[in-house]
Amino acid sequence: MKALVLAGGTGTRLRPFSYSMPKQLIPIANRPVLLHCLDNVKDAGVTEVGVIVGDRGDEIRALVGDGADLGLRITYIHQECPLGLAHTVAVAADFLGDDDFLMYLGDNMLLGGVREQAERFRSRRPAAQVVTVQVPDPRAFGVVELDGYGRVTRLVEKPAQPRSDLALIGVYFFTAAVHEAVAAIEPSARGELEITDALQWLLEQGHAVDAERYRGYWKDTGRFEDVLECNREYLDGLPPRVQGTVDADSTVQGPVVIEPGAQVVRSQLIGPLIVGAGSVVTDSRIGPHTSVGRDCLLAGAGMEYSITLDGVSVRGVRGIHGSLIGRSASVASAELDGTAGTRHRLVIGDHTSVEVAA
Ligand code: TTP
Repeated sequence: MKALVLAGGTGTRLRPFSYSMPKQLIPIANRPVLLHCLDNVKDAGVTEVGVIVGDRGDEIRALVGDGADLGLRITYIHQECPLGLAHTVAVAADFLGDDDFLMYLGDNMLLGGVREQAERFRSRRPAAQVVTVQVPDPRAFGVVELDGYGRVTRLVEKPAQPRSDLALIGVYFFTAAVHEAVAAIEPSARGELEITDALQWLLEQGHAVDAERYRGYWKDTGRFEDVLECNREYLDGLPPRVQGTVDADSTVQGPVVIEPGAQVVRSQLIGPLIVGAGSVVTDSRIGPHTSVGRDCLLAGAGMEYSITLDGVSVRGVRGIHGSLIGRSASVASAELDGTAGTRHRLVIGDHTSVEVAA
């Protein structure tokens, strides 16, 4: 079995981050989501991987390379325009050949891995197998209807009136039968070739489509609130590890990960949290549920339930909560330059959101 990992797309919902980086490189516990996906692909026993990339493919190539470090053999497949999940199957047709494959959306986090689902597919080999979770409001998802035997009878993309509460998540298994389906379907109202339409076509041609319920934690990291939630969940399960230094004037509560070369001085750490390699944290209160990226500088900072990417500096600002701070961004208190009290100085890019105390 091969894998097709989708790392193209537009990432509209993750602006402004997706203006400057592929959204699949947003870190969860300081590891890009895409690498978490590839870990799961490897764990499912698949080593031959096609990665779909769009305009920002160079950054993905630079990070993942040929996959050898991950124990994978990676082929990059360029998708000119993000024309839908089913379109990626057509673009990858030469790479996939007649092989079975696992399709994995490169922004989906499945903390329990997908090994069991892969084994089930290998042993039963229906034309396709989807993975579902039960959600309270399925209207934003592909929705799956099942018969009394757990076989899929119908799939609808984002229905206004869902007839079940089972939502499709970003992992699919296919036999080569899907290629005929992809060739047969037409673009949807939003102009995309929908994978749900390809699956529905298979059903209508009498092919078996199985559904597997996912019991582990799953999150589509398409919006920034989801990134923070997923980071919290992941940090909750991360084994503590201190490879950097924490001085005697600092206190540590709960599980923390301090990466090599990181220094913590006169600070209060409340786990779970991670401080990235080479970062310096002084006179600060960090955590819980916080990831500090690599080579960051936090001085007199207070931060919880937040993520900073690499190279961030935060000086003299406390009360940071529920925040995602992009690469090499700087957040500083006006008190440091003597303009405190009435003024906020903001240099903010497009589609950015800031909340300040009035
Ligand atoms: P989506 O999150 O559905 O789409 P998107 O990336 O365009 O994001 P937004 O809705 O915020 O604009 O895509 C799921 C995954 O599949 C994601 O990793 C991007 C990838 N993808 C492709 O590689 N090619 C495509 O044509 C599409 C639609 C998505």
